[in-house]
Amino acid sequence: MAEKSRIGVTGLAVMGANLARNIASRGVPVAVHNRTYAKTEQFMADYASEGDFTASESVADFVNSLETPRKIIVMVKAGKPVDGVIEELTPLLDQGDIIIDAGNSHFPDTVRRTAECEANGLRFMGVGVSGGEEGALLGPSIMPGGDPAAYEEVREIFESIAAVVGGTPCVVHVGPGGAGHYVKMVHNGIEYADIQLIAEAYDLLTNVAGLDAPAVGKIFEEWNTGDLDSFLIEITGKVLAQTDEKTGKPLVDVIVDQAGQKGTGTWTAIDALNLGIPLTGITEAVFARGLSALRSERAVAAKTLAGPNPAKEADDESLVEDIRQALYASKVVAYAQGFAQMRAASVENDWGLKLGEMATIWRGGCIIRARFLNRIREAYDEHPDLDNLLMVPYFTEAVANAQDAWRRVIVKATEQGVPIPAFSSSLSYYDGYRRERGPANLIQGLRDFFGAHTYKRIDTEGSFHTRWAQDGTEVRTD
Ligand code: 6PG
Repeated sequence: MAEKSRIGVTGLAVMGANLARNIASRGVPVAVHNRTYAKTEQFMADYASEGDFTASESVADFVNSLETPRKIIVMVKAGKPVDGVIEELTPLLDQGDIIIDAGNSHFPDTVRRTAECEANGLRFMGVGVSGGEEGALLGPSIMPGGDPAAYEEVREIFESIAAVVGGTPCVVHVGPGGAGHYVKMVHNGIEYADIQLIAEAYDLLTNVAGLDAPAVGKIFEEWNTGDLDSFLIEITGKVLAQTDEKTGKPLVDVIVDQAGQKGTGTWTAIDALNLGIPLTGITEAVFARGLSALRSERAVAAKTLAGPNPAKEADDESLVEDIRQALYASKVVAYAQGFAQMRAASVENDWGLKLGEMATIWRGGCIIRARFLNRIREAYDEHPDLDNLLMVPYFTEAVANAQDAWRRVIVKATEQGVPIPAFSSSLSYYDGYRRERGPANLIQGLRDFFGAHTYKRIDTEGSFHTRWAQDGTEVRTD
């Protein structure tokens, strides 16, 4: 009888296949399975020589090829397919076996599946995995959530396959229940904001500073050597430098300007709304993708709606530097908001998230990996209960230094009719956050006028209602 495998992977599309290969490359025997057997056969034909793989056609054989407690990574499309796999596995598994959903599942589904599996004596983990195909193969950032004892069973394997930064693997047990998938969701939300900010900078450099794609690509390459140093800035330089084989033009110039999305950014924004956390950067990024999708409507509106057209200015170094600073300050705000959201969700769900650890495991392997996550980590190491990242001296100063440029860019873009929803909403958030007294007093007055919703006074405890439309008398209502 062949030796049992230490871990199994079911779902051998690129992410699953690469994760299986990554695990096997660490000398761990891996059982592999796919709903369609042809894919498993193809996997074995391509990669069997890379490690100790056991392939099974049936789920039962797959389950039997694993040592107990079984550890099964499910890498299938989020949604119904995950439930389908769990249903199939459940009757074949023993008490204490561990099902690990490593796809981009929505965290409420993870909470539900955890309870369902527990009711069947099984352990369930919702694990965020970031880094795309290459990350899965060479070292992703891993955000495991669920039963801590179950995590201990896979910890060694996860630590061996994760990306490593400064000797520290980019994996840590994030928290119980849906915490891992929640953190992955916010990671993706921040990814949306990062990408949108980059797109706005590209738009300004192209349509206001009048630069062509290769020139903008060089600027991003240069920016990647400073505070903005990150994977997304790096690949922006590469994407902009690519020439289209067919036309000889920059490839970006022949790509349709409609952004796709699979839903994680939208989930992040919806959850922020539910929590009452201002998450303007990520939410505007989701809206911008929605607006980009209205391509045929935009084509008509472009000929109908009035507005200034960007007056392409001669290449202006100070404008380029202003855009860099605006990008950096907006990015700081987007991260401050995303981390504030994780903090609120942790309190709401009693997850005990350690935000410094989240910054630590995002330093490598994942899509938003960036130099400045070191600073975020330091900030939370020093102040674990920090309300807002903007309040630590490093970021307070960074934004203070950038804010004049940030404002100039927003004025210029607005004057010239270039949309910058993430830049400008981030600045509005910043200006709103740093204001001791905003205009919500009037909102309260209006609510009380039309709906007797009451208000609080700055000088007296209690709730009050004014009979605005009658005799103007104020009454205490509590
Ligand atoms: C990652 C990515 C990955 C994927 C997103 C893209 O961390 O490896 O975030 O999860 O690329 O699904 O999301 P959209 O298709 O919604 O842009």
